[in-house]
Amino acid sequence: MQGEPAGQIEVVMKGRPGTAMAAFAGLLSDAELAAAITYTRNTWSNSSGDAVQPADIAAARGG
Ligand code: HEM
Repeated sequence: MQGEPAGQIEVVMKGRPGTAMAAFAGLLSDAELAAAITYTRNTWSNSSGDAVQPADIAAARGG
């Protein structure tokens, strides 16, 4: 997992139309989405060293 979190937040929240990637924005809270995305960015061989905050999700929701 490389690059800025913004694109990844976008995909997890909205999904990828036309693929199996589902949209999770309506299913999970800001805190849950932030935690899940932070986890994937810093586990397995990923080490972004950053932490996505619930406020980042709120901002991406447009709120
Ligand atoms: C039912 C569960 C899920 C299914 C079936 C699924 C399926 C997929 C598929 C098929 C793609 C590729 C879409 C394409 O062709 O462009 C994709 C991309 C992606 N998925 Fe999921 N996904 C699931 C859950 C999740 C979860 C829980 C996360 C995050 C915690 C996640 C994060 C991503 C991301 C970040 C990408 C984009 C990767 C890239 O930039 O190419 N997915 N997913």
